Amino acid sequence: MDQNIISIQNVTKRYPMGDREFTALKNINLEFKKGEFGGFVGPSGSGKTTLLNIIGSLDSPTEGKAIVMGKRISELSHKESALLRNLHIGFVFQVYNLLPIYTVYENVEFALLLQDNTKQERKKAVMEALEWVGLQDMADKKPSKLSGGEGQRVAIARAMVKRPQIVLADEPSANLDAKNAHGILQTMKQLNKELNTTFLFATHDEKVMEYLDRIIHLEDGQVAEDEIVTAKRTLTNSK
Ligand SMILES: Nc1ncnc2c1ncn2[C@@H]1O[C@H](COP(=O)(O)OP(=O)(O)OP(=O)(O)O)[C@@H](O)[C@H]1O
Ligand SMILES: [Mg+2]
Repeated sequence: MDQNIISIQNVTKRYPMGDREFTALKNINLEFKKGEFGGFVGPSGSGKTTLLNIIGSLDSPTEGKAIVMGKRISELSHKESALLRNLHIGFVFQVYNLLPIYTVYENVEFALLLQDNTKQERKKAVMEALEWVGLQDMADKKPSKLSGGEGQRVAIARAMVKRPQIVLADEPSANLDAKNAHGILQTMKQLNKELNTTFLFATHDEKVMEYLDRIIHLEDGQVAEDEIVTAKRTLTNSK
């Protein structure tokens, strides 16, 4: 069972463009082990989001195989891919889309409603996830009363509350100042260490790159460089 958690084999993605086609990903080959903390970087339009969406089973390759937790993405039914996402994949997006009329607690709890658990079990999980991101005292607040950094932390709690195997984060720091971005990256790195969750980012942000153990450079839909970062920044808990 030392199978890789994500295996991308000769993946090509084409989008129809008028009467022609646009090739967003060209013959990508990548393997990820459980517990990796990696990311895709590269110019706008290089294919970062397209690749994250395929890994998250929000999209399928045109050619090649994307295998996530042993399942081939293009062969999953609508229901099966929804199940894979609901159980095993957490998403953090640039725009974190909290539901404004619900509290912080309820926004995080939503991620568990599709699962078979009791209200008590959900409460334990939600409060734990809010503690991970330091927002346990804000459970009853509405999103409009939060700062941008706090909102993004709620989005991380929502992605992590089901303890997914994989978290996919697309430009999670885009709306944050430096201090908040570092705080969030430290939280994610800590969860990666404690729970062995696999994290994959798409980012332009140097601050995010500092935390990554592996940086995959995309250019024109191809892997230009696959860099394992050895000189690590030492993490401190002090802010
Ligand atoms: N649904 C779609 N239909 C047609 N073309 C698309 C679609 N999604 C993405 N593309 C094209 O594929 C290319 C790669 O897009 P992608 O969103 O993956 O880039 P990106 O690296 O995430 O860029 P950014 O840094 O701006 O977020 C772009 O040229 C984009 O226009
Ligand atoms: Mg993108």
